[in-house]
Amino acid sequence: MNLGRAGVKVSRICLGCMSFGNAAEWMIEVDEARPIVERALDLGVNFIDTANVYSRGRSEEILGELLKGRRDEVVVATKVHGAMGEEPNDRGLSRLHIFQQIAGSLKRLGTDYADLYQTHRWDYETPVEETLRALNDLVRLGKVRYIGASSMYAWQFAKALWTSDRLGLERFVSMQNHYNLCYREEEREMIPLCRDQGVALIPWSPLARGFLTGRYKRNEAPDSPRLRSDRWLKERFFRPEDFDVVERVEELAKEKGVSMAQVALAWLLAKGVTAPIIGATKVQHVEEAVAALDVHLTVEETRRLEELYKPHPVLGHT
Ligand SMILES: NC(=O)c1ccc[n+]([C@@H]2O[C@H](COP(=O)([O-])OP(=O)(O)OC[C@H]3O[C@@H](n4cnc5c(N)ncnc54)[C@H](OP(=O)(O)O)[C@@H]3O)[C@@H](O)[C@H]2O)c1
Repeated sequence: MNLGRAGVKVSRICLGCMSFGNAAEWMIEVDEARPIVERALDLGVNFIDTANVYSRGRSEEILGELLKGRRDEVVVATKVHGAMGEEPNDRGLSRLHIFQQIAGSLKRLGTDYADLYQTHRWDYETPVEETLRALNDLVRLGKVRYIGASSMYAWQFAKALWTSDRLGLERFVSMQNHYNLCYREEEREMIPLCRDQGVALIPWSPLARGFLTGRYKRNEAPDSPRLRSDRWLKERFFRPEDFDVVERVEELAKEKGVSMAQVALAWLLAKGVTAPIIGATKVQHVEEAVAALDVHLTVEETRRLEELYKPHPVLGHT
């Protein structure tokens, strides 16, 4: 499938690499990541996402190591914005930081170019014109093929797209945002904007960090390495109304004879996203994600999955 208006073709499942690294107990190192990446490529996944900040560069290093000899088969996406050091210029979307960070990312990834270079968050202290001119220059220099963006408010994204058009600069081709059956606030503004503008939707945490897989039960003391060491998982979900949604996913999964992860991913695919960015710490996670492509939901099943949703405060923009 095309990545939005761009000509490049990507698989409908993107493999996320935030789980590769050493920054938290739930993450895995290169030996455990190797079979996951190999299996993903063998199953036809050609789209892989990482970021400079994931384990302060270790995720990119692991991916670079695992793509040796297969780099050209993959559309490699990485990101810039988060803090990579303690100095004022070690973060954000200034020209200075972007140029420093692309150099570091390419070195760690062992490649001369990133296929998709994404702004990880909005930078409130740098004019968007400066950021877009710097990204445009990276494309001209051949260090980056396409540019994309991640979580922000829709007004900010509209401003960025409008600025690119006004100045004749490269335009963001994709939006990597927080979207899953337990967090649907993006349906209000960002998703309609992206559809209108031909921007590819590549949502992150499509399984709500594992919450939608049924691993955590209502009224049971939850525990897992990820729950112990990923504060966002603890903070963002686990409301009684989130369990209502999870239990409905479980009901549908039983009826259809598939896993809960497959139902949750099939729902996103049916909503027309280009590729959910899945997180994997086991080979089976990738296998189930790819198998979700064969799960079809009827209009009635989709209605049942959606009807119990209760709005969340905005989660994941900052
Ligand atoms: N742009 C951003 O700001 C941003 C933010 C977050 C993530 N991301 C991107 O999105 C990617 C995915 O994020 P995520 O890890 O939060 O995604 P996710 O797909 O919502 O959650 C992945 C977790 O779900 C569990 N899981 C996955 N498949 C499963 C299956 N078939 N059966 C049972 N459990 C399963 C695993 O938990 P256990 O490991 O506990 O088993 C896994 O770690 C990241 O790697 C990153 O590339 C981007």
